[in-house]
Amino acid sequence: MAEATVGGNAEAITAAELAEIGLRYEVDGEIATITLNRPERRNAQTFATWSALARIGDGLPARVRVVVVQGEGPSFSSGIDLRMFGSDGVPGQEPFPASFGASASLDDEALERSIRQAQRGFLWLRRPDIVSIAAVQGHAIGAGFQLALACDLRVLAEDAKLCMKEAALGLVPDLTGTKPLVDIVGLPRALELCLTARTVDAREAFELRLAELVVPREELSRAVRDLAAALLSTDREAARAVKRLLQGAPERSLEEQCAAERREQVARLKALFAGR
Ligand code: CAA
Repeated sequence: MAEATVGGNAEAITAAELAEIGLRYEVDGEIATITLNRPERRNAQTFATWSALARIGDGLPARVRVVVVQGEGPSFSSGIDLRMFGSDGVPGQEPFPASFGASASLDDEALERSIRQAQRGFLWLRRPDIVSIAAVQGHAIGAGFQLALACDLRVLAEDAKLCMKEAALGLVPDLTGTKPLVDIVGLPRALELCLTARTVDAREAFELRLAELVVPREELSRAVRDLAAALLSTDREAARAVKRLLQGAPERSLEEQCAAERREQVARLKALFAGR
């Protein structure tokens, strides 16, 4: 598996920088793997994590079709680094605020900008040219749950525990997680989960459609690899077109969706039979 430098320009981020932030990034053919790698803090996330994720997305090689997001150690991610709530904050966050206290002193526009930048780290995982898979073991709390929700598909180990904890800490989930949560479980259940901040185990997550697959802990990597291989077995361009179609379906009427199917199929047929 080749180690990757992220982005092919002045903003490229090196493996050493990623290690400092607590991330690992590897590209092996058509599969990219991002590993949250601060197990001693249960893969707690910071502004630096989100900025690095955005840069990985910006520099993703065009050949990549599947992106796996996983966590090292007992838990996928314990969410935001709780040092953000202290006055000292998390060192090494520049140009982002080191703590929520420092964030709160920014004007509204600057604060919104920093949240938008954080959201960029999550949004690209839904791009039509890739399929993203979260491999979740142990806890996925707050930002950790939202990172799993940012992925197209979720494979859970039997010990997985999901919790949207933000409201218990006086915050809202703001890392792109509320839309997929409502889309998947519906408004009443999303309300119940967010407003009680209770923990959902893997069995319930499967019932709520928050997991495509639940497997024993020791089979998680294998299950994700098998899923990635199955996703790569279909035609690359058709896969992109199908993802575009399916992603747009909830917003369209039946008539509009039929029109979208026609447009995509015309393009496919032209491409498949060009020059024959
Ligand atoms: N931030 C910073 N450090 C963390 C952390 C976090 N979120 N989660 C765990 N750690 C640290 C612990 O302090 C501990 O450090 P020491 O060894 O130095 O004591 C180490 O990681 C191991 O933690 P535990 O011993 O608690 O490990 P565990 O496996 O028994 O439990 C856990 C794991 C259930 C995740 C537990 O650590 C925990 O509840 N962590 C806090 C979770 C949390 O409240 N996260 C905030 C979510 S809200 C959010 O994310 C907000 C947002 O998006 C805006």
